Amino acid sequence: MARFAYVNGRYVLHDKATVHVEDRGYQFADGVYEVVPVVGRSMIDEDPHLDRLGRSLDELMIAMPVSRQVLKMIMRELVRRNRLVGGLVYMQITRGVAPRDHQFPAVAPPPALVMTTTAIDLAAQPKFRDGVKVITIPDIRWTRCDIKTVSLLPNCLGKQQAAEAGAYEAWQVDRDGYVTEGTSSNAWIVTDAGKLLTRELSIDILSGVTRRTIFAIAETEGLEYEERPFTVAEARSACEAFASSATSFVTPVVQVDDTMIGDGKPGPLALKLLDWYLDYCAGGRRDKHVGPWTAGEIEPLREIA
Ligand code: PDD
Repeated sequence: MARFAYVNGRYVLHDKATVHVEDRGYQFADGVYEVVPVVGRSMIDEDPHLDRLGRSLDELMIAMPVSRQVLKMIMRELVRRNRLVGGLVYMQITRGVAPRDHQFPAVAPPPALVMTTTAIDLAAQPKFRDGVKVITIPDIRWTRCDIKTVSLLPNCLGKQQAAEAGAYEAWQVDRDGYVTEGTSSNAWIVTDAGKLLTRELSIDILSGVTRRTIFAIAETEGLEYEERPFTVAEARSACEAFASSATSFVTPVVQVDDTMIGDGKPGPLALKLLDWYLDYCAGGRRDKHVGPWTAGEIEPLREIA
């Protein structure tokens, strides 16, 4: 079956899809992206992802190339053409094409919009039931990790280090010994008292859409949670841990470096959250938990920068 990509106004065959060599995304990583999960043909948390996309673009002073309505139409059309039942929609917007020069072009070029899909049955990943190992590494990224930029080299290096250590993810650690987040997911632990713990929003981490949905689920289910940094030692001695993202959903962490978490099996709370999240994706709980985000809800981050 032909697979399509969307490139600057056209649906083209995926293996023929190209961008210009002087696209600033290619030369300077001058662009942003979003990954939206698709479960049962439905886009999960589509509006929050598009809210965050808008915010990332604003932070980099790149114009949104099309209206939100048109963006949603393109997403749907690509999902339809690729007959995507489950998987991901990836979209990337860069500042566009200009002769190579670090400063922004004097006359802004049209921003470049690229979209692809990947078919995966996200809801049936073995890692959910088996749990995963994470390693801890120094956080060597820049100081604006709240922007979802395509500049992901430190994340790629960290993920590669994890893979070489037989781990799924690397939890990055700040200079004070506190975990910031994974290279492509948010990091969580569960305290002895059964409280969910994850780092508070700041320029140190990405404001995860899944993270936010987990909070909403926790509220509905009466679970306690706290947003504060935790140390590597706390993570190693936690009774449970997990990672969250558009692709990880709620992935139980059973080992941090050489230390088993709890009894080395996925924790009951993580598994419960995963079930609730899958139920949320299936539409069972969507109304119950989270209304559409307004851009304003993530705006306060801007004040931190
Ligand atoms: N990554 N932190 C980082 C550094 C991330 O790259 C991601 C997502 C998250 C979780 O955000 P969300 O819940 O909105 O997916 C946290 C995506 C999946 C990626 O880069 O492929």
